[in-house]
Amino acid sequence: MSLPTASAVRQQFLDFFASKGHHIVPSAPIVVKDDPTLLFINSGMAPFKDYFLGNKPAPYKRIADTQKCLRVSGKHNDLEEVGYDTYHHTMFEMLGNWSFGDYFKKDAIAWAWELLTEVYKLDKDRLYVTYFEGDEGDKLAADSETQNLWLQYTTDDRILPGNKKDNFWEMGDTGPCGPCTEIHIDLRSEEERAAKSGRELVNADHPQVVEVWNNVFMEFQRLADKSLVKLPAQHVDTGMGFERLMMAVSGVKSNYDTDVFQPLIQFIAKEVGVEYHGTAPATVTDQPTTENEKTDIAIRVIADHIRTIAFTIADGQLPSNVKAGYVIRRILRRAVRYAFSSLNQKQPFLFKLVPVLADQMRNIFPELKAQTAFVQRVIEEEEIAFLKTLETGLRRLDALEETARANGDRIDGKTAFELSDTFGFPLDLTALIAREKGLTVDEEGFQKELAQQKNRSRNAQETEQSDWTIVADSDEQPAFVGYDLDEAPARILRYRKTTAKGKTEYQVVLDQTPFYAESGGQIGDTGYLESPLSKVRVIDTKKENDLIVHTLLHLPEDLNADFLAIPDVARRTQIRQNHSATHLVQAALREVLGSHVQQKGSLVNEKLLRFDFSHFTKVTDDQLRQIERIVNERIRQQIALDERRNVPIAEAKELGAMALFGEKYGEFVRVITFDKNFSVELCGGLHVPNTGRIGYLKITAESAVGAGVRRIEATTGVGAEAYIDQQLDLLAQVRETLGNPQHLISSIEKQSEEIAALRKQLEQFEQQSLNQQKVQLAAQVKAVNGVNFLAAQVQASSAEGLKKLAYDLRQVVPNLVAVLGAEIDGKPQLAVMLDDEIAKAGKLNATIMVRELAKEIQGGGGGQPFFATAGGKNVAGLGAAIAKAEAVVTSVLA
Ligand code: ALA
Repeated sequence: MSLPTASAVRQQFLDFFASKGHHIVPSAPIVVKDDPTLLFINSGMAPFKDYFLGNKPAPYKRIADTQKCLRVSGKHNDLEEVGYDTYHHTMFEMLGNWSFGDYFKKDAIAWAWELLTEVYKLDKDRLYVTYFEGDEGDKLAADSETQNLWLQYTTDDRILPGNKKDNFWEMGDTGPCGPCTEIHIDLRSEEERAAKSGRELVNADHPQVVEVWNNVFMEFQRLADKSLVKLPAQHVDTGMGFERLMMAVSGVKSNYDTDVFQPLIQFIAKEVGVEYHGTAPATVTDQPTTENEKTDIAIRVIADHIRTIAFTIADGQLPSNVKAGYVIRRILRRAVRYAFSSLNQKQPFLFKLVPVLADQMRNIFPELKAQTAFVQRVIEEEEIAFLKTLETGLRRLDALEETARANGDRIDGKTAFELSDTFGFPLDLTALIAREKGLTVDEEGFQKELAQQKNRSRNAQETEQSDWTIVADSDEQPAFVGYDLDEAPARILRYRKTTAKGKTEYQVVLDQTPFYAESGGQIGDTGYLESPLSKVRVIDTKKENDLIVHTLLHLPEDLNADFLAIPDVARRTQIRQNHSATHLVQAALREVLGSHVQQKGSLVNEKLLRFDFSHFTKVTDDQLRQIERIVNERIRQQIALDERRNVPIAEAKELGAMALFGEKYGEFVRVITFDKNFSVELCGGLHVPNTGRIGYLKITAESAVGAGVRRIEATTGVGAEAYIDQQLDLLAQVRETLGNPQHLISSIEKQSEEIAALRKQLEQFEQQSLNQQKVQLAAQVKAVNGVNFLAAQVQASSAEGLKKLAYDLRQVVPNLVAVLGAEIDGKPQLAVMLDDEIAKAGKLNATIMVRELAKEIQGGGGGQPFFATAGGKNVAGLGAAIAKAEAVVTSVLA
């Protein structure tokens, strides 16, 4: 039997909703920018959050799409289950249809039923639906409207009430929310269904009785104080798990047995030389008992995780040690560890899967195909790095097992933290391995250690934020007018208070603003907000979704006044220069290095520009020069800016505009061109009217950021001038220090030669001096308790010299016990040397002796039984240390 293909089933969904008047849009990037509450898109509705909140009008009243989603952090987190069961994933596609203030419960329910039963032809008798039973705490009644609507399509025994946890959907701790109705499907065999009703298994974690579709009726917003307020309009937000739908329409028992995962699974199985059997322990607490189960789980984990890893990297998130980057690193390490332990892959392996996945997804998510080599490179480097410590770490965990058993089968928090800190074992990986051994991990203790470490490095304090207070209403979407104006009249629409590190600041949204909000790498504007009665400083401007948020040092008293919003123009001019220069640098990089150069990050502020891009080797000095030359040539050509707004995205792409992977573009975009044959980019930033205004560009640094990513830093205009002056000043100082020689380089070379010659001479003198001392000292030896004893302060210029003298003396004096002291670079040093036979006899021990004597010089040291040294702080104590030596020897040998 051939399986339905993923692309056909996906297309049926999109076609169905297109036929119901929905506009089909592409998936937004999986990595979220400009939203402090979310690292990754965790549901189909997240990219539309602003439409629900009323921050921005929806461009269409009906939209449908398939959205890449990740549920591995924050409120929605399924990581633990992945691989053990058959229907949870880190990354999944969420098919969704939306109504923004348009249709509501009736149509949503009718269409959901029609699609499932008539298009996908799922058996009606296998479907169960739920509705919200109400919640006292939130003062919400049961959703009987939904209950009644369902009665038109199915029977009462298939309609179940559900509590707030299952039937009231919230995006996060705050944000849009509402009651929902879920559709579950019972995929068990006829016998199983006869034996037990599916009704009893809804929401009971049964792998074959699963939720496929959630229809949320968005009516509320959850505020920071946990209360609910009504949204201005009613919306529909739905999400159907594509991989589960595939399981249902394919008539199989596992998401992994569908066309979505089979190509990956077959590839992995072949590559590692095992068979995939499709076994599945039901829950994470059931550890695999057979080898087949073990390899199956590993294969599923890897087939799942590679999707998350590859797509987040393709969308611009590199693995790192913080935030979103750390989430990806953790998942990658989890996958590496399964490959290593269960599939015996001791070499990088995951990266090989990228082309398989890229091919599978090339029509719906082409961003991976377009960057296959880059994504592979990043993953392989990560694998290499982690494999280096993995084996040691695993051995350490094995060694810890006994202690843990003695400790109530528990790995303590400090150990778990050490594993993370030293071996790069994320907590969830330690927990996973612990679980396999039947151990638990003290996660609280771990968090405590982590917090302590954070406190040590910085006094971290949470940012607190109040809800917005509305000052004035506006139907208009607040406009950014900074492309045309350097100042503009403005009214405050809303404000809120934020507290971070004990400092209170205020944030405001204006009805229109010339302030540029940090985005696309360009830093936010600073400036003033001025009214007849007040003048407050704007210290930063940031985007929150699509809101432009100005941070103020104080809140003006006359909140309702007419303000003038005035960005710092001088600062902004420098930012403009640096931003336009960044475009020229990017174009020049592609000319010099090749078209594989893709932007991977950028920073543009008033001082510098920083540009990260995909490239596998160091950019040579020659290439840097070439890039500089091209850019400066373009600056001198005084190319006029060609700025076009509201260009349809297709048209922009036709113009050859460079888009960024992982950037969310609307249907209409802004195109910035400096010579249509040189630099055409999609960009929302501020630019100079003419490249001549950049003045001059100087590259100041080139470095590696991570695997396959290089960084260039540069400065322009007065910044470049200052940089060059600095370099010239430095050179002048060097010249002067060297006495203003005519030929600087040959003068430095000559000095180096002289220094080398002098050093050689000095060594010879030192050697002579040591030889003389040796002869003199040998003459001072006296007999003490049957050994040849010597204690003296000597001249040596290094610890090496002192050691050599001690060794030389032993050559010439038999049966020697010597204590030598010297002042070296202003610090006292001691050396104790024993004849081999004396050391072997064991009565005297050089290490013990030197430690005893070092007390006199406030120091410590050590070494071997026959030779040991010590350093100290107190030079004045050298004499006493030497004087004490005889007494020590006498008492030991007596
Ligand atoms: N936003 C809803 C969900 O993710 C549809 O389940």
